[in-house]
Amino acid sequence: METIDISGKWALVTGASRGVGRQISLGLARAGCNVVLHSRLLESTATLAAELHELGVQTHQVAAELSDAAELTSMLESLLQSGPEIDILYNNAAIMTPYRQDWLNIPDEDYQRSFQVNVIALSRICHAFIPGMKSRKWGRIVNVTSGIQDQPELIAYSISKGAVDKFTTDTSGHLAEHGVLMNTLDPGWLRTDLGGPNAPGDVTSVLPGALIPVLTETTHGQLFRAQDYANAQE
Ligand SMILES: NC(=O)c1ccc[n+]([C@@H]2O[C@H](COP(=O)([O-])OP(=O)(O)OC[C@H]3O[C@@H](n4cnc5c(N)ncnc54)[C@H](OP(=O)(O)O)[C@@H]3O)[C@@H](O)[C@H]2O)c1
Repeated sequence: METIDISGKWALVTGASRGVGRQISLGLARAGCNVVLHSRLLESTATLAAELHELGVQTHQVAAELSDAAELTSMLESLLQSGPEIDILYNNAAIMTPYRQDWLNIPDEDYQRSFQVNVIALSRICHAFIPGMKSRKWGRIVNVTSGIQDQPELIAYSISKGAVDKFTTDTSGHLAEHGVLMNTLDPGWLRTDLGGPNAPGDVTSVLPGALIPVLTETTHGQLFRAQDYANAQE
């Protein structure tokens, strides 16, 4: 498959400290892309930053609790004022809500918190970096969604990912003519802190699929399933 050259570009990966975001950051770095690493604490991405430097790329570390609007504002302002120009955005960070056996009694806070982190923060991060991508006539935004279904016990998480899908399809049409392609990515059910120990997939199987929406000239508003590319020959 022919891929585009992203060496020297800058990507922001939210939730880069572990799990899927860590793999995406490593994959981008192996393609020569510099990476802004986000998590809640700067020290949580320190080891990864060192690994990326070993791969010959630059990094920048940022921290924000995404349910805290003021922390998110401060992180975005600081990146926009003094950070690198972001060409590629992976909105990967998310929280899973507690498994509610009593699924007819989902507490309001499950919806509030999952929407704060998984939807509202994601939309604010997109809106912060879209103007720069549009002015440079190139950008890739990958919003990480989920294939979860038929689990009302996790409905607040599931609906938040449905909102990510709708955000992406409704927004992407306004961006494509400016060279900015926004798509969604389903990583598959993977053994991470969020996916849990019973997931069938190793987290490394998210590559190379997670990079396909960025490395190939693609359409917009589409769902990419990372597992469709697992074990693919390079
Ligand atoms: N794993 C799966 O089976 C699976 C399946 C479908 C979709 N997904 C999606 O894939 C993405 C990554 O999931 P994962 O399994 O890699 O999760 P994970 O291992 O739990 O990692 C979550 C990442 O997000 C960050 N994060 C969590 N809560 C945050 C908050 N409130 N504010 C800021 N950052 C926060 C964490 O940073 P800290 O280190 O600071 O906590 C961490 O870097 C998510 O969007 C998830 O919905 C995962």
